[in-house]
Amino acid sequence: MIQIAVMVSGHGRGSNLQAIIDACKENRINGGVIVVIGVKDDAPAMERARSQGISAIEVRPKAFDSDEAYGQAVLDVLAEHKADLVCLAGYMRILPSNIVSAYRWRIMNIHPALIPLFCGKGMFGEHVHQAALDYGVKVSGCTVHFVDEEYDTGPIIIQKTVPVEEGDTAETLAARVLIQEHKAYPEAIQLFSQGRLSVEGRVVHIHPK
Ligand code: GRF
Repeated sequence: MIQIAVMVSGHGRGSNLQAIIDACKENRINGGVIVVIGVKDDAPAMERARSQGISAIEVRPKAFDSDEAYGQAVLDVLAEHKADLVCLAGYMRILPSNIVSAYRWRIMNIHPALIPLFCGKGMFGEHVHQAALDYGVKVSGCTVHFVDEEYDTGPIIIQKTVPVEEGDTAETLAARVLIQEHKAYPEAIQLFSQGRLSVEGRVVHIHPK
């Protein structure tokens, strides 16, 4: 059983958080969400956690003098809850490097495109899907990856694809991708909990059971 901490930002709906909670309850993940850490106390994802009896703790970056101090405050919460894995779910910032190094290859993120396409700084929410539509790609999808020190550049764990359909808007494409996000994230976490992931260079190997 792994102990999962989920990090969210101010506006996140928390639908990926919910998908992870549900997968734990249904034993599709051998683990549980033990804490949600957010940048804003009244964010929808924080309320969602609390309503299900999961502690939701605000650590506000602006309350600290430096990124490092903010990172240390988050590390303290992670240590206090004995977190094995940190899952970013709608966390819109670069994670402080002291968290990344303390939890190397134990932090995951989900991005609503097929990395390395339509990712990096400024690529979030509808911008991602609009960029995919403007480029004219015929497939898009989502990526679960380990987090390193940059935006969306860490080793890829799982990708799932969806077709881009005639007449799609950013909204319709986002909705199609989101269905796959809710499958991909629990799958990636379960692989981690089973000890089946290893990282070599920037390649994630998935080992048999
Ligand atoms: C998702 O689209 C995810 O890919 C991105 O942020 C969004 C979060 O949505 N990183 P939700 O809060 O999980 O519903």
